[in-house]
Formats: sequence, structure tokens, C-alpha cells
Amino acid sequence: MHSLPPLMSSTTFTMISFVVTLLLTGTRASPLTRRLDNGVGVKPALGWNNYNAGLSASAESALAAANAFVQLGLQDLGYTYINLDDGWSTMARDADGNLVPDPNKFPNGMKNVSDQIHALGLKFGLYGDSGTATCAGFPGSQGYEAQDATLLASWDVDYWKYDNCNTPSGDSQPRYETMRDALLATDRDILYSLCQWGVDSVWEWGASVGNSWRVGGDITNNWNSVANIAASNAGIASYSAPGGFNDYDMLEVGNGGLTEAEERAHFGLWAICKSPLLLGTDLTKISDSSLAIIKNADVIAVNQDSLGRAASTFTPSGQAAPTSGQLYPYWSGPLSDGFVIGLVAADGVGTLNASFADVPDLGAGTYSWTELYSGKTGSGDGVSWTFEAEHDMAIFKVTGKVPSQSSSAVSTSATPS
Ligand code: GAL
Repeated sequence: MHSLPPLMSSTTFTMISFVVTLLLTGTRASPLTRRLDNGVGVKPALGWNNYNAGLSASAESALAAANAFVQLGLQDLGYTYINLDDGWSTMARDADGNLVPDPNKFPNGMKNVSDQIHALGLKFGLYGDSGTATCAGFPGSQGYEAQDATLLASWDVDYWKYDNCNTPSGDSQPRYETMRDALLATDRDILYSLCQWGVDSVWEWGASVGNSWRVGGDITNNWNSVANIAASNAGIASYSAPGGFNDYDMLEVGNGGLTEAEERAHFGLWAICKSPLLLGTDLTKISDSSLAIIKNADVIAVNQDSLGRAASTFTPSGQAAPTSGQLYPYWSGPLSDGFVIGLVAADGVGTLNASFADVPDLGAGTYSWTELYSGKTGSGDGVSWTFEAEHDMAIFKVTGKVPSQSSSAVSTSATPS
């Protein structure tokens, strides 16, 4: 026990503590009050974007994806946004300074596409850039923020991805705030997705500006890229919360660069880390195995959990701590109705174990669990999984403490399928 310094009364001590607390909390981000409250993006966005699929930003690709959302049952699982990336406009603004949809890609205009997507019960997104030109050389919004925001609203656009190419040097935050304010000034709730590649520590201020913020450069279609994104961002998990999320970039599931096991881990890590889940493949050609992964309702439910807290790594007793830049096998995070534990066969096949006693904020006890890719259930004082394929992932939803003082860890040996 600490005793008070002899010359300080308890009242003085209380007052000093109060002032110190005020000063400390004043210097910290207060996550809820300072978050952008634009009525949308409370949960990570679920949708599709043409870019990783190598498809053109056109009416045809957008409507094909929208129809696939309906036909493949993706809409029923919550996938909502149909987003078009760089390249939807002509190379120059019109005489009034407006962006112009490329007439070859949008023969009936942009509003027509937006209307068709809305008629299916889905939402529509577009891409722009905070500099003078987009990364592919189309007109950027610098100096045209209010005009562009008004145009987007007139097309009933629901989602705006805002890129960082061809920008002036200096702090990026004011540029992103200018467009935030322009969007807020319209009569439409537009999800604002900062595509700012993780510069200027965007996670520290992104929540007051947008609904999600890219935490790094572009994903590429291979395991090293997937593993690196997940590994590098475990330390900033706490910045994600309802209304504003770390964005790990669009998914590569279905694009052929990952094994089936790696696709499970890619989707699973993005899901438990509360990244937006933006499908990035040609849905008219997706394989059954990739489709099964992106249609896993239980994994999607973890991503969409109302608590909105991202999972991060934890170190089981006896295991080495994470190494910088290397994917770590042990992940956990709180859910509104339990916990999620992820085990990733990052270093090859074999068995991974984790005791609940080592999971932060969960603690020792006997709990029930369900492994979300296989549907296997069990209970015990920890989880254990034997992986037959490297880079595979098992995701355990851990619920209710089992009252009886039973048993040791229940092991299950299988490959999630
Ligand atoms: C990059 C962005 C990608 C994609 C691309 C289009 O800057 O990170 O996601 O939008 O531009 O040119």
C-alpha cells in the first residue's frame, strides 16, 4: 500500500489526481467522441471492388458483380457495396469543371448504374484522388472537392474511396479533411474510405476523418503480401472501433495466387482484424472453394460484431513473442458475445495450442468453442488444432464459461474445410 506524503492532505491529493487524470485524458484520443459520425460505416464495409480482379471500372463490371451478389447469395450474407476503382471518368473535366463518366464504359451515364444497383437493394461506390490526378492519370479532386462531392451525391453514390497520388508534399490530413467536410455538406450519407497507404500515422487521426483508412500500400496476389499486412498491423488493432476501421486493402481471395488454406487465413485474418471485406475477384468465375470461404456466415459475423474491436496477437506461455514483420500464429479479440481466437499455421504444418488462461481479458476457465471453418465444437480450458496445410487458419468462437470444473483442453485434429 502507498501512503500519502505527510504534508499532503487527502483532499489535496484527490485534487491533484483529478488534474493529472484530466491532463492525461486530454492528451489521448477519446475514441468515441472524436470519431466521424456520418451515419454510415459503423461496421466494416462488406462489398466488392473491380481493381484486384483486373476488371475495368465500368457499368458492365459493376452490374455483373451486383447480379452475382444476388445470385450467389452474397447479398443475403451482408455484402452490400459495389465499388468501382480508378478509371471510370474521362481524362478531362467538362466545361463546367465536372468529372465525366467515360461514355464507353457508362453508355447510359452514372446515375443509371447507381439506380440499377440500388434497385437490387445494394449500394454503389466510386473512387477519386486527393491530388491533381488519380494514380492512373484521370482527374483528381484537389480544388474541386465541393463540386465533386455534390456530383457524387447527385448520382446517389454511397461510398467514396479517396486516393493519395499526385498530391502536394506535406501533411495529408488537411486534404482528407477537406473532402470529409465536402461530403458532410451534401444531403447524402457517403461512406468515406481513406486510401492513404498508412502514411502520416493515419490510424491516429483516421477515425475523425473517415470510416476506414488503408494502413499500407497495395496488397499483391501472394501469401507474403497477405502475411506481411497482417503481421505489420497487429500493433495498431486498438485504433479500430465502430465507425472507423483499419483497412487491410481489398481481398485477393479467388485470384489464384493463394492456396485454399491461404485463402482461409487471408479472409479470416482480415475478418477478425475488422478490416473492410471488399471482394476483389471476378464473381462470375469464382471457384466453389473460394466461394465457400467468402460465404462463411460465422466468420463474417465475427467481422461485423457490434463491439467492433479488432483482434491482435497474444503470446501463449512458453512461446516466443512475435517478431517484427513475421506473421504470428496466435490471435485473439473480444466479441460482444464471447471471444475469437485465431490460430494460423504461419510456420508450417503441425499442431498449435492455446490455453484460455493466456488469452488477454478471457482468462483461465472451461469454455465452449466452435471452429468456424469446420463447424467443429468442443469445450475445455484451451483450443488446439492440427494443421495439414501450411498457412491455414482455424478460427474459434469461444462462448459461455462452462460452470463445472471439468477437464483439460479438448484437442481436435482436422483440417478446416
Ligand atoms: C492505388 C490504390 C489502389 C488502387 C489504385 C488505382 O493508389 O492503393 O487500391 O485504387 O491506386 O490506380
